[in-house]
Amino acid sequence: MSPFKPLAPSKALSHISHPVAIITANDGKKLNGMTAAWVTQISIDPPILCTSISPLRHTWDMVKDAEYFGVCILSKDQEKESNFFGSRSGKKLDKFKAMGIEPFMAAHDIPLLPGSVAAFVCRKTHRVEQGDHWALFGEVVEAWKGPEVQPLNYFRSKYRTW
Ligand SMILES: Cc1cc2nc3c(=O)[nH]c(=O)nc-3n(C[C@H](O)[C@H](O)[C@H](O)COP(=O)(O)O)c2cc1C
Repeated sequence: MSPFKPLAPSKALSHISHPVAIITANDGKKLNGMTAAWVTQISIDPPILCTSISPLRHTWDMVKDAEYFGVCILSKDQEKESNFFGSRSGKKLDKFKAMGIEPFMAAHDIPLLPGSVAAFVCRKTHRVEQGDHWALFGEVVEAWKGPEVQPLNYFRSKYRTW
């Protein structure tokens, strides 16, 4: 007897547990951020992160040709921020202002969300189109640690905390 049940790939993929992050951008005219669960570390030395962004996102328009972007790893107390940054487009809206968030302006004028358990400024190294998303790779050039609280995670289309 098989130890597995067959499942559609998209359903089975939802069993991968992810962090919840906000990818941030500054194109010189405005700031923006979007929630992304598809974020992972790729290399230790040099430290490289990868995230996957749909070209339909306004954030993609801002980061695809930018030199730097930010990655903020959300805490269990930031579900509201995740929902807001993950459901509204920054095309005509300043999500930071709308949520009353004063971003911490890090290296290269990249905005970071206070309250994140960790936050990174990345220098884009590569972008690779894969299916309906783009993988965006960035070397961490500045790293910050936030409060010692549990991170927010995403598993089977639901938020989870440890
Ligand atoms: C929990 C959660 C995880 C998400 N993960 C991703 C992701 O990994 N990649 C992506 O392209 N969009 C993801 N989204 C959707 C974007 O955050 C959403 O479309 C956002 O409104 C885009 O904002 P923008 O148009 O200002 O870039 C996620 C949304 C939520 C709520």
